[in-house]
Amino acid sequence: TAKTKRTDSAKTADLEANIEESAGALLTSNQGVPVNDDHNSLKAGDRGPSLLEDFLLREKITHFDHERIPERVVHARGSGAHGYFELDHSLTKYTRAAFLQTTGSRTPVFVRFSTVAGSRGSTDLARDVRGFAIKFYTEEGNFDLVGNNMPVFFIQDAIKFPDLIHAVKPEPHNEIPQAASAHDTFWDFISLTPESAHMIMWVMSDRAIPRSFRMMEGFGVHTFRFLNAKGESTFIKWHLKPTLGMKSVLWDEAQRISGCDPDFHRRDLWEAIDSGNFPEWQVGVQLIPEADEHKFAFDLLDPTKIVPEELVPVTPIGRLVLDRNPDNFFAEVEQVAFHTGHIVPGMDFTNDPLLQGRLFSYTDTQLIRLGGPNFHEIPINRPVAPLHNNQRDGFMRQMINRGVTSYDPNTLGGGDPRQAKIAQGGFASHAERLDAAKVRARSPSFSDHFSQAAMFFHSQSAVEQRHIINALRFELGKCAQQSVRERVLYLLSQIDDALAKGVADGLGVLVPKKIEGYLNQNFGADADPKTVQPKKF
Ligand code: HEM
Repeated sequence: TAKTKRTDSAKTADLEANIEESAGALLTSNQGVPVNDDHNSLKAGDRGPSLLEDFLLREKITHFDHERIPERVVHARGSGAHGYFELDHSLTKYTRAAFLQTTGSRTPVFVRFSTVAGSRGSTDLARDVRGFAIKFYTEEGNFDLVGNNMPVFFIQDAIKFPDLIHAVKPEPHNEIPQAASAHDTFWDFISLTPESAHMIMWVMSDRAIPRSFRMMEGFGVHTFRFLNAKGESTFIKWHLKPTLGMKSVLWDEAQRISGCDPDFHRRDLWEAIDSGNFPEWQVGVQLIPEADEHKFAFDLLDPTKIVPEELVPVTPIGRLVLDRNPDNFFAEVEQVAFHTGHIVPGMDFTNDPLLQGRLFSYTDTQLIRLGGPNFHEIPINRPVAPLHNNQRDGFMRQMINRGVTSYDPNTLGGGDPRQAKIAQGGFASHAERLDAAKVRARSPSFSDHFSQAAMFFHSQSAVEQRHIINALRFELGKCAQQSVRERVLYLLSQIDDALAKGVADGLGVLVPKKIEGYLNQNFGADADPKTVQPKKF
């Protein structure tokens, strides 16, 4: 079997404590009892029934019966690797995050790549968004960058996420199709959700069928904040650019590969690392002064928009290198728990309503997926930074807390950890001023759904545009509902007439001029979405 490469890092050393090597060792039960026969159960006579008292049989089968945990509700299919982030451009001016200060410093990371829609055993080559999630084990705690290989998202508000996922996942009556978007429910939802127009352009582009995880870009998608030592805030967007360049396969190739080797990306990542061809990305940030928040024609809080690099260039800050395969897929890749809420001092969130919902969702899902409140103690998840607090107990608790106090303030526990932390400058949120009416609404500054979709389509070469048109022909060709096809064509006509016509020609239909009663929450019935302009904000 392949030998994994090892580099020294604080996280590698931390994981060593849990490594088990069985080769050459005596077989034991889970209680450490030596076992002399693992081939036969205890029976009443050679040909008699098995005996209930056979604790070895019971233990082995019970453990087997409980081997599976729920797969992730999204991004179930994934592959991961260890590595490091090396800083080559200090960000002290913008953030006090410890791992972004010293040029040349290395921070251990664990990265998981994934598709979104398919289940754990689905093909790597589905047309889909790819997850690109990075856990940085920094000296001030874990920072997770839970991003994708596309810089925008389908929806603007997390309250629509369950709807989006229900639409894209296999249809509930027959669990078909397994790992593709080509079906009625997905396009039904998209056709009624114009805010998805920009993302649809990315998902129908070659980006959705990457050649390799090593040849994909990565994006944090949302606008985040950096906070410096003076408490000054800068808006940022994360970018990762692969050293090998960005490459895709053709749709025809993707389908053949799916049949021949559904593990194509997983195998490629494993073999590259195993042979010493370590995947690498240039990590960069777009830095946007707080004063420029309202300078753009779009809203920085809208996750369906990019900040064009022509307006704000990406500043390279370091490189991400993956140089070690996992020892155990389940222990590491399956049990890793990423969370947009895992940030460190010197960072903060923004009010992006999609991000705000994610801040709730990840812990909530991991509480059930990983069986209770102590999953931060699982080796792949535990920080290398020291961990001290008054949280106690719960299922599967590993930590043995000494002392009588698990409350704060106290005088009996040798001091007040809160005071110590304040003295050392722990995490502090940005003191953003808020004065607003409580409303359940979508900001008018989020209402231009088509300008950037058109910008993306027009940025593509003629060949790439043809691929987008062909992808949409394929997808809508699988759509049985004529009304759904028509609404999608109408939506496409808001992006580009040639795009819509190209798709319609392939389907042998005309692009509808207008769809009566085409309503959605943003425009209202019968509004022409093309003429709706974002209000000044
Ligand atoms: C999982 C990215 C939006 C809920 C993931 C993963 C990634 C990701 C990369 C896989 C993590 C892994 O490898 O373990 C994104 C991005 C989003 C987005 C970039 C939009 C910008 C959302 C939203 C929600 C959500 C809006 C819910 C409101 C989840 C859940 C999981 C997940 C529940 C499974 C986590 C687990 O079981 O550990 N997401 N996501 N995501 N995401 Fe998102």
